[in-house]
Amino acid sequence: MPKEVLSILDERTHATYEIPIQNGTIRTMDLRQIQSGPGDFGLMTYDPAFMNTASCQSAITFIDGDKGILRYRGYPIEQLAEKCSFLEVAYLVLFGELPTAPQLKEWVGAITHHTMLHETTKKFLEGFRYDAHPMGMLVSTVAALSTVYPDARNIHDPEVRKLQIMRLIGKMPTIAAYTYRHSLGYPYVYPDNDLSYTENFMNMLWKMAEPKYAANAIMARVLDILFILHADHEQNCSANVMRSVGSSHADPFLATAAAAAALSGPLHGGANEEVLKMLDEIGSKDRVPAYIEKVKVGELKLMGFGHRIYKNYDPRARIIKWAADKVFEVTGRNPKLEIALELERIALDDEYFIRRMLYPNVDFYSGIIYQAMGFKPEIFTVLFAIPRTAGWLAQWQEMLADSDQKIARPRQIYIGSAEREFVPLEKR
Ligand code: CMC
Repeated sequence: MPKEVLSILDERTHATYEIPIQNGTIRTMDLRQIQSGPGDFGLMTYDPAFMNTASCQSAITFIDGDKGILRYRGYPIEQLAEKCSFLEVAYLVLFGELPTAPQLKEWVGAITHHTMLHETTKKFLEGFRYDAHPMGMLVSTVAALSTVYPDARNIHDPEVRKLQIMRLIGKMPTIAAYTYRHSLGYPYVYPDNDLSYTENFMNMLWKMAEPKYAANAIMARVLDILFILHADHEQNCSANVMRSVGSSHADPFLATAAAAAALSGPLHGGANEEVLKMLDEIGSKDRVPAYIEKVKVGELKLMGFGHRIYKNYDPRARIIKWAADKVFEVTGRNPKLEIALELERIALDDEYFIRRMLYPNVDFYSGIIYQAMGFKPEIFTVLFAIPRTAGWLAQWQEMLADSDQKIARPRQIYIGSAEREFVPLEKR
């Protein structure tokens, strides 16, 4: 058996070092002993954007980007999407195992009873301008919940943590629906505890004067599947923010608000809204080749394409494409689908995209489905944030329980001025 060590020869000092290799990684702290001489700080690594650095060990989500595999707690995403409800998957992601029937009943009951917002939080939402972006409203309102639940600061008590988790998962659809109604100027609809998680969300979004909202069963199931697909995605930008903010022991409402802020960017969850803008800009199928040319000369990015980890078809995009057909059976085909399919067809056959291994990601088709279901593009990223809350909270819990973790605090390479003499204002 070869030794699982990395032998390093430092040409500066001719010293040699043996660094243990575990799980295909070395611990960068093991490099600190490599010093050029007395007083040297020791060797560091430079890895902007974490291109090759594992920041944690995790047992939540497994991705093999080359093979296009995604699993939560070992279960393939395809099986979970086919057989589970979102709340079942949220339980799995958060607690490590699929719930038994009594556990699921208790979990669904608990989440259902945490959907209501305090009336003062509702008033807080009312303070936003009529044209406020729903993601901005969501981020601020989730942060504001920190003031409603001061007990959340006690992050060291597992029972207190669980309560905040139930509150966040329960209230996320309510906040999301209220941001939507606010932008339309409609009165808010209170949660209906008779309905499932997604049906109740649809109720709070779309109920008008009817005494009882009846959700379309196909739409409710598709939304549930979309929630499953978005529940977690290991150490992405927002999960990293959740862990980083959580590592300072900020309460989970504030950490979740920070994670949602990270999600809102167009390179992350905000891409679904950008895809729709892009399809609008292209306008028709015959204008796709010209658009692709602009992408290839670096003028534009093809939104909804590419991924840091997937260098093969994103398995979520495949399921979303299937779900799109289900939605279109109810709504009729969205004309934007033709443009999207043509974009995909040309891109997948083009040397530029092939060489860079750029495939459609989860956001490429999700926006088209959301639009067909009646959502406005500004709410798309909010729809991503609802299920991802389960993933963020799972990452947060795992981080708190990990004895390897401390407050997140990267190093830097200082490239500024050496010490210099202060120059008084009149001499500058
Ligand atoms: N369109 C055109 N070219 C692209 C694209 C794209 N969408 N994505 C990457 N490239 C090119 C990039 O210009 C670079 O080319 P070159 O080697 O000539 O410089 C090469 O591919 C590698 O790209 P990168 O920017 O180094 O890759 P990254 O891992 O840093 O970025 C990404 C990943 C997702 C931010 C990027 O692919 C992107 O901006 N995509 C569009 C936005 C998007 O759809 N984001 C959603 C991601 S999936 C869901 C989520 O995480 O929320």
